[in-house]
Amino acid sequence: MKKHVVLYKKLSAQLMERLQAQFQVTLIERLDAQGLRQLRDALPSAHALLGASIKLDPSLLDLAPNLEAIASVSVGVDNYDIDYLTQRRILLTNTPNVLTETTADTGFALILATARRVVELANLVRAGGWQQSIGPRHFGSDVHGKTLGIVGMGRIGEALAQRGHFGFGMPVLYHSHSPKPAVEQRFNARYCDLDTLLQQADFICLTLPLTAETEGLINARAFAQMRPESIFINIARGKVVDETALIEALRSGQIRGAGLDVFEREPLDADSPLLQMDNVVATPHIGSATHETREAMARCAVENLLAALAGERPKNLVNAGGWKG
Ligand code: DGY
Repeated sequence: MKKHVVLYKKLSAQLMERLQAQFQVTLIERLDAQGLRQLRDALPSAHALLGASIKLDPSLLDLAPNLEAIASVSVGVDNYDIDYLTQRRILLTNTPNVLTETTADTGFALILATARRVVELANLVRAGGWQQSIGPRHFGSDVHGKTLGIVGMGRIGEALAQRGHFGFGMPVLYHSHSPKPAVEQRFNARYCDLDTLLQQADFICLTLPLTAETEGLINARAFAQMRPESIFINIARGKVVDETALIEALRSGQIRGAGLDVFEREPLDADSPLLQMDNVVATPHIGSATHETREAMARCAVENLLAALAGERPKNLVNAGGWKG
């Protein structure tokens, strides 16, 4: 009997055909209430899951006694309880590398849009508010030559440092678990503690994963270290930030602006105070959302899944402890 693969993300026809050639495939097209019911119904016979953007709690996965693998179409794995999966010997895979450059592009788009007030001023033009040449009230801040602060120097942090250093002549400060000499050499970057970064960087960019350690890391105390010229950028995860403290820092002028691709709760509530602020550029978690990169991520996830169900060690295995091999 064919193994049962449950997709909760739509794939291209080509990838779908690759899976259908070997497995019984159930596709859940939308993760609305009906889609979640379909997922619960499919779990008892599922051998593998592939998708992203929902939390797969143990209480849900307990419904799937035959589950061998979850191929997440994301690099972040904060939607999974890794200890639980490992204990059950369910392999978890992710999609690193293929989205690095695209996500760093998003980071830079937010840096530029926030500093140069692109969205606010484009809206002004659209609303017929451009009646004469604009003055200081609408000026932005320079990006080139300013200090780029990167919190979390993983692949995406490095790609951001590359853009800042080579493209915009920015001195780079970074904070991460440990110093990275190769990064320092390539981008003339300087390692520092978090407080120093928050105090000295003009752009404070989060690129670190959400873990028990990083949840709520950027809180009221952290915002108090920043300067009225600071611009805060989050392309990591919303829960790394205390959103109430962020709103207060923006309201009180403790920081100049924020470019945010991720939020404590997604989708962001339409009545969030963040959406009332001209100095906030908010995007709907588009870090990796280009046609090319989303297809590459889906392909990577399919390859991980095929390996896992063939009894091979998948290339992007997250929980090595789950591997029986
Ligand atoms: C990732 O790949 O983790 C992106 O943030 C999408 O969730």
